[in-house]
Amino acid sequence: AAATRHEAESAPAICDGVVESNHTGYSGSGFCNGGNAVGAAAQFTATASAAGTATVAVRYANGGAADRPADLLVNGAVAHAGVTFAPTGAWTAWGTRTLTVPVNAGANTLRLSPTTADGLANIDYLDF
Ligand code: GCU
Repeated sequence: AAATRHEAESAPAICDGVVESNHTGYSGSGFCNGGNAVGAAAQFTATASAAGTATVAVRYANGGAADRPADLLVNGAVAHAGVTFAPTGAWTAWGTRTLTVPVNAGANTLRLSPTTADGLANIDYLDF
């Protein structure tokens, strides 16, 4: 099935930081600028028609000089530890990180939880 876009700035997504729109190129009305802290997360809720595996694509920008790694938790369990969100060259330059995750039938919580004090890259959306 075609992916559904889940904007980081729109409920039911949760941005542990500030929703901003000062860097162009985002989808929707803005992006999540998570706090610069370990665990300052962006969280999404996505519905799967069946249990199994699903592909998620996270669009992000990292205008800093260093990676902004994050754990990806699905329904509270770490599905991928320390996912890299490498520098994209500018806060207006957006890249995509694609991962496969285990899912339950019905609603699933997907949480990007940064593992360094720099926090997350800016997060635009998650396609699921
Ligand atoms: C800058 C940038 C923000 C970014 C932040 C960061 O302030 O404007 O969009 O989130 O750096 O380093 O996290």
